[in-house]
Amino acid sequence: MLKIRPANKEDAPHVARIYVESWNTGFVALMPPKVLDEERVARWQQELSYTWPYRRWVVGTDAKIVGFTEIGLSRDTIEPNLGELDTIALDPGHWRSGIGRDLMKIALKYLECDGYRKAILWTLANYERGQRFYEAMGWRADGGIRDENRQVRYRIKFILSRRERTKVRERRKLAKLPQALHLSR
Ligand SMILES: CC(C)(COP(=O)(O)OP(=O)(O)OC[C@H]1O[C@@H](n2cnc3c(N)ncnc32)[C@H](O)[C@@H]1OP(=O)(O)O)[C@@H](O)C(=O)NCCC(=O)NCCS
Repeated sequence: MLKIRPANKEDAPHVARIYVESWNTGFVALMPPKVLDEERVARWQQELSYTWPYRRWVVGTDAKIVGFTEIGLSRDTIEPNLGELDTIALDPGHWRSGIGRDLMKIALKYLECDGYRKAILWTLANYERGQRFYEAMGWRADGGIRDENRQVRYRIKFILSRRERTKVRERRKLAKLPQALHLSR
């Protein structure tokens, strides 16, 4: 049975494989292929070792991981209330079976629980599969572009009640989380 759990460093070889296979299948004709080698696995080992404000999950059975996602504080537009969906990818053999939706639900739930008011993601400008998926999950293109128009930005807003905002503030205070992530009111 498939289950979703937080990722750890030991997942790096699987995450690297899925990243490369989904990239090479999904972005064929759009981007040069990537190679799965030791360096890429090592990079994922490093990435998977970062803690707060980053969170990652893998989905799979005990025997095989088939997908992963990563969220955190926005990396290139640093705003305390702006989260980012960094990556979401599945084994090509599992596309369009609802697993992406389940992973996205977890990612959105935690972005909201972590107190972000909004979140962004970047995707390829002419990558229809990804864009249809993001739109189905509630994201909308916000007009942002980068990488010489090759990437477009999508955005989603969260609406926390006053009571929920207070709870987030309290949780962060208790956990002594970074000042930059405190809600402004
Ligand atoms: C993008 C990705 C994670 C989506 O995961 P998925 O499991 O295939 O998506 P789901 O089956 O959960 O689809 C959820 C909804 O998104 C929409 N959707 C997903 N793929 C779609 C497609 N190819 N065309 C149109 N709509 C699509 C549909 O509305 C779908 O709901 P439905 O099946 O009930 O109609 C997966 O295709 C993937 O890993 N692709 C390669 C890597 C990638 O593109 N990552 C994003 C980088 S920018």
